[in-house]
Amino acid sequence: MATTREGRTQNALIHARIGDEDRMSTTAQGSQWLAQQVRWTLGHALPRIAIAGAARRDELHSQFVAQSSTPDPTGAGDRRLHHLMDRIRDQGPVPQGRYGYVTASHAVVRQVLSSNDFRTRIIRDRTSPLARLAAWSAANAPMGPLRPPSLLVTEPPEHTRYRKLVTRVFSAQAVQQLRTRTEKIADGLLGDLQRGEPGAAPVDLVASYCSLLPVTVIAEILGVPNSERQRLRAFGTSLAPSLDYGLPRRRFRAVERSLIGFDRWLAHHIERVRREPGDNLLSQLVAARDDDGSGLTDIELRSTAGLVLGAGFETTVNLLGNGIGLLHRHPDQRAALGDDPTLWPNAVDEMLRFDPPLFRTGRTAARDTTVAGRAIPQGTTVALLLAGANRDASVFAEPHRFDITRTNAKDHLSFSTGRHYCLGAALARMEGEVGLRTLYERFPRLDLTAGARRRGTRILRGYERLPARLKPTSA
Ligand code: HEM
Repeated sequence: MATTREGRTQNALIHARIGDEDRMSTTAQGSQWLAQQVRWTLGHALPRIAIAGAARRDELHSQFVAQSSTPDPTGAGDRRLHHLMDRIRDQGPVPQGRYGYVTASHAVVRQVLSSNDFRTRIIRDRTSPLARLAAWSAANAPMGPLRPPSLLVTEPPEHTRYRKLVTRVFSAQAVQQLRTRTEKIADGLLGDLQRGEPGAAPVDLVASYCSLLPVTVIAEILGVPNSERQRLRAFGTSLAPSLDYGLPRRRFRAVERSLIGFDRWLAHHIERVRREPGDNLLSQLVAARDDDGSGLTDIELRSTAGLVLGAGFETTVNLLGNGIGLLHRHPDQRAALGDDPTLWPNAVDEMLRFDPPLFRTGRTAARDTTVAGRAIPQGTTVALLLAGANRDASVFAEPHRFDITRTNAKDHLSFSTGRHYCLGAALARMEGEVGLRTLYERFPRLDLTAGARRRGTRILRGYERLPARLKPTSA
């Protein structure tokens, strides 16, 4: 958790409503504290030990885990990560490592993500004492992206039902209608940026543009009033590590506190939307009914809206930042976009392929199965390196070359595939295209300056800071 003044302000915003409501009996508090300790030990402390051990091992997956867990503010370690993923792929379609199976093969990642033999959650043998302890500690964990009924970790039949209701609301047509509004939001933000540029001092594009555009768009989609958007952004920043593993204890506790604060805020917001429905997608989701007339329950609504909010801006901010970083390093491609703006949609897919905002995911075998001729026993985890699949030479020619004219750039797996395929893919693509095109059209001479910094999160990959000079040529 940040300790800067901005960080303290964020904490104050997040915890504004937590306080008196938190008072409970000493016994209940003790039990909650213990459950939290167990969650941290199983989900973070033990993986931390494993990561530390991995650094000392020669085996490739261990090296990958260690390297991808090492803070890398300059991004200099990326080349090594890609080299490791290439070597993992060279070992075969799905090599076995110390932490289960791993794959960087495009075909295998696709196969596992599309298979009914795999699940998104770790499936534990419920009879073992450790599994019972894990189940007990999880029972009162705060709502979050990795806790049911979050779409990300539910499976049919529940998943099919939620997804059907949500997809109706997030249709391609609904996204298309948001394009003009997104252009206006981008224009407004860039106008503020231009007016606020303090002389020749660089501006941080992440803080003043890349993070603001997606949060403003998603806030409109979910009917969040203007006055609460700053708070929403603070939640996003503090919740970004919630997908990570191996968090230190203080950070883990801070994330859980933020999850509780976010959930309370969501309950309050959904209540408001119920009372005063508006012309927004959350109002539609609240009213959405299945063929049998049933809608989402309160918990399902909070979980879905929370996931959409979190996923909606913590990933897209990375797409925008990573795109700017790539165009800075490839001025020829940037010039090509200036000459032919119709290249933008494909350029966004190439950015997603080359520097994916979500680096990896995983699945667990629900039953004994076979993948690429290899037997995978029930309960085993397969680490799916999305970033590695995107650089598989059997699908992408010269995979380590960033090329915005690549004809099959869209075949990347950065939005996953199968039943958990990203619900916001169309929205993210549109925001990436509109956000970046508008930025470069407005500031054709925009230039990054020293001081760029990558984020410390492990699964979500992007920039924390991107200082730039705008050098505008037009008002
Ligand atoms: C560049 C931006 C984005 C990237 C790279 C991204 C990536 C992903 C990935 C990889 C998954 C699936 C994870 C898995 O299979 O294990 C996913 C799921 C999801 N994403 Fe996104 N996402 C982005 C933007 C968005 C946006 C803007 C929204 C919100 C509107 C969104 C909402 C969701 C939801 C709700 C799911 C869960 C779907 C399910 O499990 O059925 N995402 N996303």
